[in-house]
Amino acid sequence: MFRGIALALCAVAGFAAPAVAAGDVAAGKKVFNRCKACHEAEKDANKAGPSLHGVIGRHAGAVEGFKYSAAMAKAGEEGLIWTEEKFSEYMVKPKDMIPGNTMSFAGLRKPEDIANLLAYLESVAPEKAEGAAEEKEAAPAE
Ligand code: HEC
Repeated sequence: MFRGIALALCAVAGFAAPAVAAGDVAAGKKVFNRCKACHEAEKDANKAGPSLHGVIGRHAGAVEGFKYSAAMAKAGEEGLIWTEEKFSEYMVKPKDMIPGNTMSFAGLRKPEDIANLLAYLESVAPEKAEGAAEEKEAAPAE
């Protein structure tokens, strides 16, 4: 009985949690301007950083033709997938989540910037975003 209540509460909290779905594509596109020195959202457009087309739902270190750091390549080999959660964690402070990765970006302080960015990145590759949402549901609750 208590277990049932706890589960029900978890489900409610799940819905209320960081409203990724509420991200604003137009606002996210603006946030992306801060990434454009090094990233494009178009497919196969690598600059100083790898193309971020379809990055949500993709393995870390998986863009062909981009030379990743050993740290990022290892994270991908060890199974890191850029789900909405992992992407959000990385964007807060890239150097903390993957020490030794070579992205020179301090991080995004505002959770809404990250949520909007997610909405924008998913909007440019909707087929990938669907897969990411499924993986998210299948992932065990932490
Ligand atoms: C100064 C350049 C620079 C800026 C600015 C920058 N990045 Fe990066 N980013 C990189 C580099 C370089 C890598 C590859 C890191 C490695 O191999 O260790 C990377 C990797 C990534 C990855 C992992 C990609 C993959 O294929 O595994 C994500 C996600 C990412 N960046 C998102 C962003 C976002 C979102 C922004 C803007 C808010 C941003 N980056 C700003 C240089 C940058």
